[in-house]
Formats: sequence, C-alpha cells, structure tokens
Amino acid sequence: MPDGAAIDYDGLIPNNVGLAEDLTVRRALETWHPGYIDWWKTMGPEGFQASQVFLRTAVGVGSDNWAKFDFVRMPDYRWGVLLAPKVEGRVIPFGAHKGEPAWQEVPGEYRAMLRRLLVIQGDTEPASVEQQRHLGATAPSLYDMRNLFQVNVEEGRHLWAMVYLLQKYFGRDGREEAQDLLKRRSGDPDSPRMLGAFNERTPDWLSFFMFTFFTDRDGKMQLAALAQSGFDPLSRTCRFMLTEEAHHMFVGESGVQRIIQRTCEGMKAAGIADPYDVARIRELGVIDLPTLQKKANLHFALTLDLFGNEISTNAANAFNSGLKGRYQEDRLTDDHRLTGATYPVLRPRDGVIVNEDVPALSALNMRLRDDYVADTAAGVARWNRTFAQTGIDFRITLPHVAFHRRIGEFAAVHTDTDGLILSSEDWQRRKETMIPSSEDDAFIASLMRPERRRGAFTSWIAPPRQGIDNRPGDFEYVKIEG
Ligand SMILES: [Fe+2]
Ligand SMILES: [Fe+2]
Repeated sequence: MPDGAAIDYDGLIPNNVGLAEDLTVRRALETWHPGYIDWWKTMGPEGFQASQVFLRTAVGVGSDNWAKFDFVRMPDYRWGVLLAPKVEGRVIPFGAHKGEPAWQEVPGEYRAMLRRLLVIQGDTEPASVEQQRHLGATAPSLYDMRNLFQVNVEEGRHLWAMVYLLQKYFGRDGREEAQDLLKRRSGDPDSPRMLGAFNERTPDWLSFFMFTFFTDRDGKMQLAALAQSGFDPLSRTCRFMLTEEAHHMFVGESGVQRIIQRTCEGMKAAGIADPYDVARIRELGVIDLPTLQKKANLHFALTLDLFGNEISTNAANAFNSGLKGRYQEDRLTDDHRLTGATYPVLRPRDGVIVNEDVPALSALNMRLRDDYVADTAAGVARWNRTFAQTGIDFRITLPHVAFHRRIGEFAAVHTDTDGLILSSEDWQRRKETMIPSSEDDAFIASLMRPERRRGAFTSWIAPPRQGIDNRPGDFEYVKIEG
C-alpha cells in the first residue's frame, strides 16, 4: 500500500512507502542501515546511548495523534521512511510546468538539479546532530536533555527521508550520495558539511537554543519551499518533515524564553533594574540580557547566509523547473510563473544600502529570506512579552540583514546592527558590543554544569510551563545508564 497513511512496522525500517514489496530499495536501505547506526554511535550524542529516553516516534502521518511517547534507547529508535498522504489529482503548482500533473518519477531534464537539492537538504540533517553531540553532558535538566535527543533522532530521520528519495529515484548515483552523506563531518577541514552554518560549533546550551530557534527555522523555510515541489514524492516527504520540525523550533523558542524569564526573575529578586549592570547580574548565575542579544545577532546572521546569494540563477532555475517553490506558494495569488515580475533587493551601493528592483525570478532566495525574517520576528516578539510580564526594561531585536554576513551582497562590507556601513577599524573596535566576545563565551561555558536530578533545573533557566506529553514536573525523562 504505497500511498496509504498506515505505517508498516513489521520490517527493519518502519515505512508507509511499501518497502515490503519494493525489494530493490529495501535492499539499498538495509545495506545503508549498518553504516547509519555506526555513524549514529560515533557521531551522534556522546554518552547516553545506553540510557532510556522518553522519545516520541511517528506512528501515523496525519495531523492528529501521529506520534507515540515511550522510553527507548537511542540506537534502537525506529527511524522510518514516512511520506504525507498522496493528494489525488495534484498538479505542479508553479513554474514553466504549472498545471501539469505532479511528477511521480524524476523528470529526466531536471535530474541533476533535483539530486543536488536532495543532497544539500540531506547534508544539513546529520550535520546538526554532529554539532550537538557534546551537549548531553551539560544538560540543564533531564527535560532539556530529552528535548535535545528528540531533536537529534528526528534529524536522523530527516536524513533517512532524503536517503530514501536518493535511493528510490536515483539508482547508483543515489546510493553513492547516500554513502557520502555519512562521510562528511561538521567542521572537518578536509570533508566538511556543505553549508557554512552547519560547520560552526554548538558548544553550549545557549548556542543550542539559538540554533534551534534560528537555524531550524531556516530548515522550516527550505522544507516549506520543497513541500511545494512538482516532484510529488519530495513534496510528500517534506510535508511530513515539517510536522516534526515544529518541535525543534519550540525547543529553541521556549529554551530562550525560559532563560529570559530566569534572568528577569533573578534581577528582580536582587533589586537590579539595569540590564547593563552585567557584572552583578552574572554573579546571580544567570545569563545577562546583552549577551543574549549578542548571541541572537550572531545566530541570525549565520542563518541568513544559508539562504545563499540574493540574486541567484540556481534559485530561478529551481523555480522555473517546478522543483522548489516559494514559501506558501499555494496561498499566493499571482501567476506562479513570475515572468516579468520584479522584487526589491537590498544591496550596498557606494557606501549605503539601497533597495533595487530586480527580476523576481532571480530574487527567490531573497524572497524566502524575507519570509524567514518575518517568521523569526514573530518569535522574537513572543520572547519580548516576558520582559513586559516581569517588568524588566529590555527587548531583543533582530539586527539588520546586512549585519555580519559572509555570503551574498553584504559579505564585502562591515555594518553595525542597524545596517550602517562601518570601516574595518570601526568594526574591530565595536564588534564585541554586537557579537559575543571570548569573555562572553567563557562566561556561558562556566555556567554549563549538568543538572540530573528529577524535576531540577540549573541556575540560568526556568522550568517549562508544561511537561512533554503532559508529564509531571518531576518526571524522569532520561533514565541515565552507563
Ligand atoms: Fe531536519
Ligand atoms: Fe530540525
């Protein structure tokens, strides 16, 4: 039953793609499986592999009751291949083929482009697991440790999702790509992951929460654009991945919110009204708000780089060909072809940043980035409610999109967080007021002490409002072994 919503749990690989009858692909995946487990054990979460973790596993692909929660050792997690239900009569929603029936097989003329899209998306999934592999040791609570591992196993499943598409639709090339996805390593100088932000370190829990808030949200935008794809198996794959991705952003957003709450409560209790009284605030064992702002600046800038060049022929081709759409393409009311349309793009010109209209097709990366910024700003606004609620006079803001960029139009200039272009000297002089200094990083590192008692939290983070799957506050989310 390749198109059904029910998941077959009988074989080695849970799936709703009819693997039991698809011998070639099943063999390819079963051959790939030991290498994956090997990768998970060497590059996945360090320690805790023998511990029982309260994890959710997908048991359906609908919007309700699609997951069950239970204790499982991570290497025994049932990583599966799960596609959202097929929509009968679906047509290609945009580009030159708009209105034609959605492809169930790879369109030959776009084979190379599609393979590239799958590999780039696939590469980010194991990369983030590698980046986060040391964090279990310093988890601020069992609740947070569980959330980390949940994100990790689901990124592992997202790798499976892309590997399935490669192996099912790209034959030998696909199998080779699937092997290579297990070979590259985040941060490895000889064999790095493909995109910059996925080779950065995630050395502490503040970085982890910022990463899941900012960078997993890039994942959401990319998946949302691919969920519109005219290649139907990719669309269905990404639609289900988005269901899981929401939790990753929840972990980041609520993690930072709980830090803000703890800091504000600590300041109140100590009678400190000035958020810039950093030395005294740090003595409370909480993270000062200016450092939170600097971390947000850094992670926002790193993530914007993932959207690529503002002006991009690749993005135009991916759209024209019907492979990668825009965010919420199906809700947009234009012609979905963009021939003759324009889009405003920010770029530096003679020392100032100006807005220029360019052909909309070549500005699709820019457009997706703009949608990302709007989505991110809504999350930041939710953070800022905590300041209002606690009466601390502060708010987190997003820096200008030109700030601290390494890719695209702004890579050539330094700016401040308002987008004012700075000389190199001014940048050097002022940068530690805008991105974390080594002293800030050392302070954060000094706070990273594990808390493993049930229901307890370290000094710098408030407990969550609600337990996972409505469990009580003292629930033992991870039963630590070994
Ligand atoms: Fe993912
Ligand atoms: Fe994610």
